[in-house]
Amino acid sequence: MPQNAARPESAQGKVPAHVAIIMDGNGRWAQQRGLPRLEGHRRGVETVRTVTNAARELGVRMLTLYAFSVENWNRPPAEVGGLMRLLEFYLKQELKTFVQDRVRLRTIGRTDELPAGVQRQLRRTITETAGFTDYTLVLALNYGSRTEVVDAARAYAAAVAAGEEKLNDSSWATFSRYLGTADLPDPDLIIRTSGETRLSNFLLLQGAYAELVFTPVLWPDFTRDDLAAACAEYARRERRYGRTTEQVRAPVHPASK
Ligand code: FPP
Repeated sequence: MPQNAARPESAQGKVPAHVAIIMDGNGRWAQQRGLPRLEGHRRGVETVRTVTNAARELGVRMLTLYAFSVENWNRPPAEVGGLMRLLEFYLKQELKTFVQDRVRLRTIGRTDELPAGVQRQLRRTITETAGFTDYTLVLALNYGSRTEVVDAARAYAAAVAAGEEKLNDSSWATFSRYLGTADLPDPDLIIRTSGETRLSNFLLLQGAYAELVFTPVLWPDFTRDDLAAACAEYARRERRYGRTTEQVRAPVHPASK
């Protein structure tokens, strides 16, 4: 088996361990109601709460939410500012619940470029929830796969120059340790709401073998049932990792387990 290719398996009847979501459609949700875009984002935060709980209840172990991309800085300053304020408020409000529900918070992305208040709340929440192991919420903030790869390549090159890595030994296993997701499992299922069918620079490498589910539902309208439906769709998929159906369906010899 090529390095790092996961064992072929059917996803049949399985709950995805790691679900990642591109939360799209807040703006259209607001527009349809004649409301300002920020109202859509505010409603989107409510969905974040619902889905965080629902995923845990469904048996998902890790939930990654694409909350702000590197490209989102190009939005009107008022919307960017509003999103940052919403994020800070959400983190402040949610800390108690995270601790109570034993939710570990993590981030991916260049969080050092976020406003100081957001960074403060993130540090606080990450520190206070660091000991929880059952369920992790990962917020992708100022995240983009391409910047992530550039950052990792830079760090990898520095490690090679320092003699900590050998260029000849380069592999996905060694390089991926320099990504922001180094200690996180790859997503099993990536969902995008709002009917758009693209990945928009989200977990492009980590999602190499992820199952993709696209739903027309706008993020503020996305419910527990919609998440359950996406997980049910995942459970119907066959993950082959380049192999044939026959190979996937062949019983695994106990010695190779
Ligand atoms: C995409 O909808 C959504 C975003 C760019 C931001 C997502 C943010 C939230 C759900 C709220 C803050 C998050 C947390 C975790 C507290 P869009 O604005 O692109 O919608 P549109 O395509 O309909 O315009």
